[in-house]
Amino acid sequence: MPLYWRVFVTNAAAMLLAFAALVFAPVTVSAPIGFGELTVLAIGLLGVLLLNLLLLRPVFRPFDELAEAMRRHDPLAPGERVPVDGERDVAALAQAFNEMLDRMESERRESGRQALRVLEGERSRIARELHDELGQTLTGAMLQVEGLAARIPDNLRDELDELRETARSGTEDVRRIARQLRPEALEDLGLQSALAALATAFGEQAQVRVERRLEPSLPLSKDEELVVYRVAQEALTNVARHAQATRVALRLHQNRAVTELTVRDDGRGLSSGALPSAHGIRGMRERAMLIGAQLQINSKPGRGTEIKLSIPLNNPEAPCRSH
Ligand SMILES: Nc1ncnc2c1ncn2[C@@H]1O[C@H](COP(=O)(O)OP(=O)(O)O)[C@@H](O)[C@H]1O
Ligand SMILES: [Mg+2]
Repeated sequence: MPLYWRVFVTNAAAMLLAFAALVFAPVTVSAPIGFGELTVLAIGLLGVLLLNLLLLRPVFRPFDELAEAMRRHDPLAPGERVPVDGERDVAALAQAFNEMLDRMESERRESGRQALRVLEGERSRIARELHDELGQTLTGAMLQVEGLAARIPDNLRDELDELRETARSGTEDVRRIARQLRPEALEDLGLQSALAALATAFGEQAQVRVERRLEPSLPLSKDEELVVYRVAQEALTNVARHAQATRVALRLHQNRAVTELTVRDDGRGLSSGALPSAHGIRGMRERAMLIGAQLQINSKPGRGTEIKLSIPLNNPEAPCRSH
């Protein structure tokens, strides 16, 4: 029965009861009213109000439960919905709320993807300019230094060697930064090779032993591959920056209907305050959310950190699966 009618019927029942009590009980109301009559009427009124309250309570309780479920909803855990059951009006409200969440989540995913595309495009542009402009300038400087080498007096040779070394390390820095900004290997050689290159470069720079187990040919879309790569990149950077680890395991594999990336270190573990606002970890979570994947962080103080990205195979959120 619609809520409107249920309230009406409940009220009507209470009033009918009061009416019946007045008609059949031996009560008289004189004018002006006597104290005894007033007492009887007041008790009657109280009784009717109480009855009304008791009858209406179960009618509205499902709304409180629904409101509680809405309040508990966590926007960072997309896909969670309030149960659609019980009274027709409550169910309709729950349904409408769920539909609103659907629209908001899909809008949020779409604008997030858009933002990521812009970000990656911009990174590519900066990488290209770094490589083409600054890289060329530094190469030119190095050539000039080479040209000078034959002509300068011996007492300046050491300084010239220093200059050459500075230009050379500058060129290398530019290449490295450009590579980090734009994972060319990902486009050219595929995810596994790009991850392998990332692991090798990381191992050399951070002086940490990297064990890698990367399964070939996994069913991932281009967007998913990029997220896997960026999560691995951020996780390894964090290991180098914060973990004081001696070993890292980088693993990419297919586990039934889920593709999993895990980065596990044996370092000092996350401090408990580190999680909520941190930029890098937040970025990993956001990227995971945008492709409908899950990011888990398991860590115990002193016993290392594990970052696990799980991408479901039949992923309804996946925008396009390329192969
Ligand atoms: N592998 C790790 N081992 C130990 N601590 C870590 C690790 N990864 C992250 N952290 C901690 O979590 C914090 C947040 O990381 P992140 O969001 O990447 O921010 P940032 O690297 O810019 O500090 C770090 O400052 C660090 O304290
Ligand atoms: Mg970081």
